[in-house]
Amino acid sequence: MENVNLLKLADGQLMPQEGFGLYKITDQSTITSSIRNAYNAGYRLFDTAQLYKNEAEVGAALQELSLPRKKLFITTKVAEPNQGFKRTILSVKDSLHKLKLDYVNLLLIHWPIERAFFDTWAALEELKKQGLTRSIGVSNYQIIHLQYLATQAHEMPVMNQVERHPRLNQKPLIEYDHQHGIVTQAWSPLGRGTILTNPILEKIAKKHGKSPAQIVLRWHLQSGVAFIPKSVHEARIKQNIDIYNFSLTAEEMAAIDGLNDFTRVGKEPALVYEYNQKW
Ligand code: A2P
Repeated sequence: MENVNLLKLADGQLMPQEGFGLYKITDQSTITSSIRNAYNAGYRLFDTAQLYKNEAEVGAALQELSLPRKKLFITTKVAEPNQGFKRTILSVKDSLHKLKLDYVNLLLIHWPIERAFFDTWAALEELKKQGLTRSIGVSNYQIIHLQYLATQAHEMPVMNQVERHPRLNQKPLIEYDHQHGIVTQAWSPLGRGTILTNPILEKIAKKHGKSPAQIVLRWHLQSGVAFIPKSVHEARIKQNIDIYNFSLTAEEMAAIDGLNDFTRVGKEPALVYEYNQKW
């Protein structure tokens, strides 16, 4: 933890730049051991979502491990079927019940959808007022969604969590977020592991005596974005936070930026918006 940078969100809350993603980890024993290993390795930010169907298991793990609440930064996200003012409020109370928490540090709208675009955001503003979350933000919002939100929001998101990895480097969006005081956080920072055999990454890794995954995570760090790698393996969990004792040169950063080819591992946000759901 000592090594992990803290970013100051626009509302004043401090957020670890690196966190631990809990996507696709669902069974209780794996969740408990992953959170234990991650906490021991220094991670303090844990990222879940209603869609991951593991909030109750995460809550049970936090309780079993007796981790100090004040040291933790917990994020959850409102799923598409729960969007809309009332349903969002009820579903977040249910999330808190499952997580066995009085508040989360950060609450996000998981995907923009047309059906409940402004109402869901109004619910997040209300939940923040009620103290059930410290900060509010969005996920998978493109520039156009942020601009549209700004037409009715009373306060703007402090965070935008989006797919980001070397094949989708999101330069214009990161620049827009930055200009508007929004921290960008990368989900699937390793591109679900699919990019790790890229020869350019392998070459840079060899030069630094690091793994390609560590090179990619260091690239996120030096790009100024937040990032949440996921692994269920202790060695990888440790490896993914052991990135604070070397740095990439400007040329190496540029070479990794050059791997962008607009390949997504997840859904296209504009289509989720139009269809009101993932497909
Ligand atoms: P596993 O959980 O079996 O370790 P992302 O965070 O981009 O979604 O990537 C997660 C994927 O990458 C998971 O399949 C994870 O597998 C794998 N992964 C995580 N860390 C590493 C690493 N250091 N080296 C190789 N693969 C990794």
